Formats: sequence, C-alpha cells, structure tokens
Amino acid sequence: MKMLKEIIPAILSKTIEDFKNDLSKLLNSKNLNSGWVHVDFMDNVFVPNKSIAPDDLQNIDFRALKKEAHLMVRKPAEWIKKLIQLGFPRIIIHVEAEGDLKQNISLIKQSGAKAVLAINPDTPISKLEPFSSGIDGILVMGVVPGFQGQEFIPETLNKIKEIKSRGWPVKIEVDGAVKDRNVKDIVDSGADILILGSFLIKGDPDYNLETLLKSLGMVC
Ligand code: DX5
Ligand code: ZN
Repeated sequence: MKMLKEIIPAILSKTIEDFKNDLSKLLNSKNLNSGWVHVDFMDNVFVPNKSIAPDDLQNIDFRALKKEAHLMVRKPAEWIKKLIQLGFPRIIIHVEAEGDLKQNISLIKQSGAKAVLAINPDTPISKLEPFSSGIDGILVMGVVPGFQGQEFIPETLNKIKEIKSRGWPVKIEVDGAVKDRNVKDIVDSGADILILGSFLIKGDPDYNLETLLKSLGMVC
C-alpha cells in the first residue's frame, strides 16, 4: 500500500539495548518490517538529551530497513561522514545547526544520499529559503526536539501549509507527536511523510499502525 511507505517509525534510544529492542519490534512486525526507519541522534548540546552514536550501529544488521538519520546535533559534519559510511540513504540536518549548511548539504548529496533540512517550531520558514532548491525534503518539527511522547504544537499545521504553498520541489516530513488524533489534520495540511515515535513503537506496532490508518480512513 502506497501509504505504508510514507509512515515511518522513529527510534530514539539512549542505549544500544533500547535501540535493539525497538528495532526488533519493527523487524518482527507484519507491516513495518521492510520499510523505512527514522533513527534519532542527539549530542546533548543541540538538544538536552543524548542518544546512541553512529559508531554504536556498526555491528547491527538492519539491512531489511531503509534508514534515515535525524541529526539533532550542533555540528553535523562529522556525524554525516559516519552515517554515509554506514550507508544511510537519507540524512536530515537542522537549519539551526552550526557550520556551513550548504557544504553539509553537498557532503550528503555527493555521497548519493538524499538531504533533508529540519526546522524547529520557533524557526521562521524564511530560514529555509536559501536552500530550497538544493534539498530533497523538509522535516517540520511538531515538538521542540529532544524527547519522544510530547504534545503536538498546533501552530505546526500552519507551517506545513505555508511550506506546501511555496511549491518547492521537496517532500514534507512531519516529526514529533504525530498520532491518531492529529494525523488527518497533518496530512490535510500537506505532509507527505509522517514520522511516528511513541505512538507506533510503544506496545504493538502493527496494532498501532492499524489504529492510525483507521484515523486516515484507510485499512491495513
Ligand atoms: C523528537 C524526535 C522524534 C521522536 C518522535 O525529538 O526527533 O523523531 O522520536 O517521537 P514522538 O512521535 O513520540 O514525538
Ligand atoms: Zn526525529
């Protein structure tokens, strides 16, 4: 089903054991075992939380899944290089990060990976304008990044609509507090790709996905 590949589970883990647990839930699920997975990385500087690092993933086999990395880090360049070595085909960096953004986007694109720019709730869309033609996607944060299980910031819907209205040649991803009760509004606002952490991963991912699809008027 077309919709399934546009719903992406997110794993945000502090330890490799937690990562493996969430990963095995996905690999053992019926409907999420061969699609994309969104892996959150945090440096405890850009956001007040720390996650596993790319090096931790070196010996983990999750070739069955396509991986996108969400870098919530202040200086993404070194992280990008490691993720390219690990074969991540899509890498997301923040427009608020430090360093030469254009250079970091080129670094991602030169490796053959897709480059996506993430934007925080408080950042104006104008910050994205200089990069809109050189990127493959925009990830709109529905929460202040750093933690799973937060509340969705309603203003995000207008932000999605406004980005959509610019007509930029990008896919719009929405990340943070996406769940059954807001997913229809998020899709109606113009989201192409939905990232779901706690709603999908906690409990039974297949059951949760079914609940989500029902809210969209779809069935598994
Ligand atoms: C938030 C992360 C999100 C998070 C989503 O900082 O970037 O990807 O894992 O989790 P939920 O859906 O629970 O907000
Ligand atoms: Zn994320």
